[in-house]
Amino acid sequence: MIIAPSLLASDFARFGHEAARAHRSGAEWLHLDIMDGHFVPNISFGPQVVKAVRPHFERTLDVHLMCSKPEILLEPFAAAGSDSITIHVELGAQVTPLLWKIRSLGKKVGLAVNPPTRVSELKPYLSQVDLILIMTVNPGFGGQPFIEECVPKIQQVAAWRQQMGLQFRIEVDGGINDTIAAECARAGADTFVAGTSLFKHRNLGNAVKRMRRIATEASRDPKLL
Ligand code: DX5
Ligand code: ZN
Repeated sequence: MIIAPSLLASDFARFGHEAARAHRSGAEWLHLDIMDGHFVPNISFGPQVVKAVRPHFERTLDVHLMCSKPEILLEPFAAAGSDSITIHVELGAQVTPLLWKIRSLGKKVGLAVNPPTRVSELKPYLSQVDLILIMTVNPGFGGQPFIEECVPKIQQVAAWRQQMGLQFRIEVDGGINDTIAAECARAGADTFVAGTSLFKHRNLGNAVKRMRRIATEASRDPKLL
């Protein structure tokens, strides 16, 4: 199980400090939500922030592009130190060339799906990705409530992964706390983005360890399709 604190929920006045805190917590990934004010109604931060936090978090920087024109952003984010770059399936015809471009930059390839989008939209791409990101809130803001209707999408993607003998990770993002992480783990998720529920704790290490333990235990009692 991988826990990925989301920098979106951290103190924006102290990104380096917060990234170092996430590193000390033992989190395997640090999730960076990139918002362009067009694909989503919010603006967060850009490649310069990835570059700034890079020396403070030595494991995986998991960059999630909620952007309408990611083709102009892939190189700057790759050069800034991203390890994994995720784009959205809602981009339609752009998806295949974008996935190839991320791969050509030597980065892990992720594909995300928003709550209103049918999970079948992902199926053509499953063999081309290292990560599927199931959004469990409508993208744009942290602190939103988990959308329960997204759980069957996790189960469906997990079933396809097994049937097709693929190895991609299944990440969930939005409204994730310990209880919900357990529910998502039972459905087949193995990577958990959490902002509000983790960064609110003074002891981030304990919060990360607790979520990882709860998700791992729950995954032993799967509720798959
Ligand atoms: C939404 C963001 C959030 C964030 C996590 O666009 O992607 O899901 O990462 O936020 P919390 O954990 O506060 O819901
Ligand atoms: Zn995200």
